[in-house]
Amino acid sequence: MDKTTQLIHHPYQPPEGYSAPQPGVFKASTIFFPNTKVMRARYFDELGHQYTYGTKGTPTTFLLEERLSSLEGGKYCSLVPSGLAAITLVNFAVLRAGDEVLLPSNVYGPSKVLAGGELSHFGISFASYDAMNPQDLADKISPKTKLVWLEAPGSITMEFPDLPALLKICKSKGILTALDNTWGAGLAFNPFEIEPNLGADISVHALTKYPSGGGDVLMGSVITRDDALFKLIKLCHMRMGYHVGVDDIQSVLRSLPSMALRYKAHDDAARQLATWLSTRAEVLQVLHPAFEGSPGHDNWKALCKTDKAAGLFSIMFAAKYSSAQVDKFCDTLKYFKLGYSWGGPVSLVVPYDVKAIRGGSVPNTLKNGHLVRFSIGLEAVEDLQVDLVQAMTAAFQ
Ligand SMILES: Cc1ncc(COP(=O)(O)O)c(C=O)c1O
Repeated sequence: MDKTTQLIHHPYQPPEGYSAPQPGVFKASTIFFPNTKVMRARYFDELGHQYTYGTKGTPTTFLLEERLSSLEGGKYCSLVPSGLAAITLVNFAVLRAGDEVLLPSNVYGPSKVLAGGELSHFGISFASYDAMNPQDLADKISPKTKLVWLEAPGSITMEFPDLPALLKICKSKGILTALDNTWGAGLAFNPFEIEPNLGADISVHALTKYPSGGGDVLMGSVITRDDALFKLIKLCHMRMGYHVGVDDIQSVLRSLPSMALRYKAHDDAARQLATWLSTRAEVLQVLHPAFEGSPGHDNWKALCKTDKAAGLFSIMFAAKYSSAQVDKFCDTLKYFKLGYSWGGPVSLVVPYDVKAIRGGSVPNTLKNGHLVRFSIGLEAVEDLQVDLVQAMTAAFQ
């Protein structure tokens, strides 16, 4: 079944005699038990969908967990209050004092900040590897390495790594892998089957982006196929008191059926605008996995079959412009708003200082020029293009 259909025709069973497009919404902190025998028989730390207390979930929680697991090709899902909380949950569930975690050099920034902060406070070290050089990952793995994070493409600079090569290295050394699958959204590729019998152990998804689709909900998920890993994750989830409000869950359930169509619309518009921008004299380089010459383009083509690419890209404005001019470009845009995140209806723009976000590991191709990241929303492409033209004219002429 195509994902588009799957997101609409799910296995939810409404109460007898009732049927409608949207499932029921169940909210609770207290959950009643019919008698003391059942109360004693339901354990908080059991894996199944046991109704014990609101933090462990209601039928609405379990429904979204089931739908996200089937979307991403996993078996178990845990919901958390944000994408960053999902990254935190994985780290806290599997890492112990003395372990090391490896992060790609182009990782989502706050993941690195977490590693340098709380993880290091708990005696867990981290190191970065060059996501575009599998040999560098192999070299960085030490006896202390317990977990390797993967991201495709990398944040902001958009390099698409050779996931099969990176995964093979980790599997051959028995090291756990967690993939930030936010960009792929469960639509571009299956994180658990990158190749037959080769996939990540854990998929993390910032549902804040495409599953929410509104720019108004923060949520994350942690998905796995592995029973033992799920047990570790679920216990950590419970002990840390993670919980997601049912109103937010309902918002995501309402948005999911349109996600595949929205993803395609964001993708089509982003490719049109990036193609047009690549012809502009002001633009040195377009960083978008579907563009030939963009780092890792062949890896993207092999995995996503030229089909799916989300609505994100970055460009490098020529070095001859000043940072003040690039800021003026961003400030002059009308429909593109200055703001973080992506996957919502409104197009967003953020100028980044590559040296500040990448520290010592700035690729040569990004040493000159000014990087601006675009998240393309659902506005008409022609309007967005007119907006870009007027802002470039105001800033660069
Ligand atoms: C790749 C990636 N992962 C995770 C996150 C974190 O998601 P959230 O904003 O829900 O914490 C983001 C947010 O921008 C992201 O871009």
